[in-house]
Parts: sequence; C-alpha cells; structure tokens
Amino acid sequence: MHRVWADIDKSAVRHNLGAIRQRVGDTRVMAVLKANAYGHGAVEMARLLVAEKIDAIGVGDSGEALELRDAGITAPILIVGGIIPGEMPRVVANDIEVNLHTVQMAEELNAEAEKQGRKLRVHLKVDTGMGRLGMQPFEAVPFLHNMRRLRNLELVGMCTHFSLPYERNPAFTTRQIEHFNLAVEVAERLGYRDLTLHSSSSLAVFGRDDAYFNMVRTGIALWGLLPGDAQGNADQLKPALELKSRILFIKEVPEGTPIGYSRTYYTPAPARIATLPVGYNDGYRTSLSNKAETLVRGVRCPVVGRVSMDYTTIDVSLVPDAAVGDEVTLIGRDGEDQISLAEVAAWAEAIPYEILCGLGRRVARVYM
Ligand SMILES: Cc1ncc(COP(=O)(O)O)c(C=O)c1O
Repeated sequence: MHRVWADIDKSAVRHNLGAIRQRVGDTRVMAVLKANAYGHGAVEMARLLVAEKIDAIGVGDSGEALELRDAGITAPILIVGGIIPGEMPRVVANDIEVNLHTVQMAEELNAEAEKQGRKLRVHLKVDTGMGRLGMQPFEAVPFLHNMRRLRNLELVGMCTHFSLPYERNPAFTTRQIEHFNLAVEVAERLGYRDLTLHSSSSLAVFGRDDAYFNMVRTGIALWGLLPGDAQGNADQLKPALELKSRILFIKEVPEGTPIGYSRTYYTPAPARIATLPVGYNDGYRTSLSNKAETLVRGVRCPVVGRVSMDYTTIDVSLVPDAAVGDEVTLIGRDGEDQISLAEVAAWAEAIPYEILCGLGRRVARVYM
C-alpha cells in the first residue's frame, strides 16, 4: 500500500506506439525516454518498448544512457541534446550515439574514440530555427566536407529540432524543413549514404506528415498526450499515467477555519477537510493550491489551502462517507469523471511535460 503512487498502464503505452506507427508508416520510431521517461520509469519503459521492437531510444545525457545500458538495454541510444567534455569517455566506452554541434566537439570526441580504439556513431544536428543546439546550415557544409578526416567517428545520421510544440506557425516549420533538406542534400552530394534523418517530435508526428524523413523522435505521445493546441489529435492516444494518493486524516471544522501555511483559505461554511500525504516534494506543486481539484469516490473535491512539502488538504464536504484510507485521484479517472494531466498543468500554470517530469522519487511507480 502506497501513500502516493502513479499507476502506469503499459497497454496504453503499447497502444500509443501503435498509433504513432499507424501515423508514420514505415518510418522508424525513436522513443525519447529523457527525464526518467517523463516520469514513467526509464528502465521499465525501455524494456517494454524494446519488446515492441522500437528502433532507437533517445535520452538527455550520459547518465540516463548508462542507466539503460546498466539495465541491459542494447538498443541504439542517442543523446538527443548535447554533452559536455566530461561525458565523452563514457559515451565512447558504452556505444552511446551523440549529436555533433561544433567542430571542436567533433575533434574532441574523435580523439577520445581514437584513445579507446573505438569508432563512435554520431549524428549531425543542424539548427534550422530552434536556436538552442546544433550547427547553422552554412557551418554544416564545410564541416561535412572535413568530417572524413575524423576517422574514429562514423556519421550515421542528421537531425534538426522544430520549435513548434508551443506555438503553431506552419510557415516557420516549413522553412525549418527546407533548411534541413538543404543540409541533407549537401551531405548526400558529398557521398554520405544511408543516413538516419530525423526531425519530428510528437506534435509534428500528428501534424506534419511532410517531416517524417526516415525516423521520428517521440516522447509525450507515447505517454498519451500531445502538447498545446494539438490535443484534438490526442483522441487516438491513451494517457498512460494516473496519479493517486489516499486520505490520511479527516476533520470536521466550523466556518471560518484557516487551512494550511499562511492561512490562504478560510472555510466559508462548516466543512470536512481531508489531508493527503502528497506535496510538492512529489511534484504536486504549490501553484495548485486553492485551484486544483481531485476525485474522491468519483466526486470532484477542491484543493484548499496551500500545498506543502508532504501534504495537501482537500475539502470533502460533498462526499459525506469519505473515510481515512480512501483512494484519491489527482490525475486520472474515477467513475464517470476524469482529471486530465492537461487540466492539472493548466491549474499549475505549467505545461504537461513539467508535471510528468516533476513527479518525485517518493511517488511509487506501479505498472499494470
Ligand atoms: C531533441 C528532442 N527530440 C524529441 C523530443 C521529444 O519531444 P515530444 O515529447 O514533444 O515528442 C524532445 C523532447 O524534449 C527533444 O528535446
């Protein structure tokens, strides 16, 4: 029995992978398992997806990559962002693919691979408008030309990243695709063959079928969501995670009773207040204070007072038979009603990704 836990429905993840595959056809799929698979548990999700014949895994840094290697995951792993020099020895030693962003980085990696007597598989990241990582297209041309002398690096792919997830501007994405295509053309003219080309994250998978190239990189869609205004498309997906806690304590209080730190809430009438053992340490943020709702016995019960490190208080006056030990749904379905992750994110003034990635260590992951 857990105080706070996430039920993770593996069949929903399989379903979502199926929906992605249906969308992209023969295009390969990389599962982005950064940030502990967006809170779903990287090792468990990697095992599931490898069993489903996922083509590649994306992670955020060498620590995440090694966690998977140590768990026996032998599938191709790419660090989809950047690495710092201190990470180079272990990425080379553990056969972790990386994106190249600068000439200097390529030279340092080549030297490390030479030192270890290995050849490292690398992808060239082209910055077509995200402005975060990667070479500008004009830098990529001389780089590709000179790359051949780096004998301990093997260029296996090229990629770019769209800035679209939080703002739809189809024309901008089209320009990003065009710039990426130009860089790919140069690589092909220089004789690079069989490159894995990838640009699309979840939103583009469900909105830009002109940008699949030969691999897509999906994170959030695997967990059953799409960012922002693409929610409509999410009908084809199933949310995989529900966040639950249970009532630890209940009290009846008179009108005018202050609840929680700083007394941000006074009961407007006599009320039944329940205390849940979940707080901001678990990723249930203080910004949810006096805004979020929960489900108790299928009935919406509001969060009242300020969320603290370990506890949250809710008003269960509408559920007269609510009792200590009752399950409380913070994200997910209970009976007829459902609290979606998007709803919680909106209450928290966050994006759904932040809520998932912010789930704390203390939240038990229960796989179903
Ligand atoms: C480079 C890169 N590719 C793909 C993804 C996956 O994005 P999404 O979860 O929107 O599918 C991310 C996520 O942040 C990313 O940084």
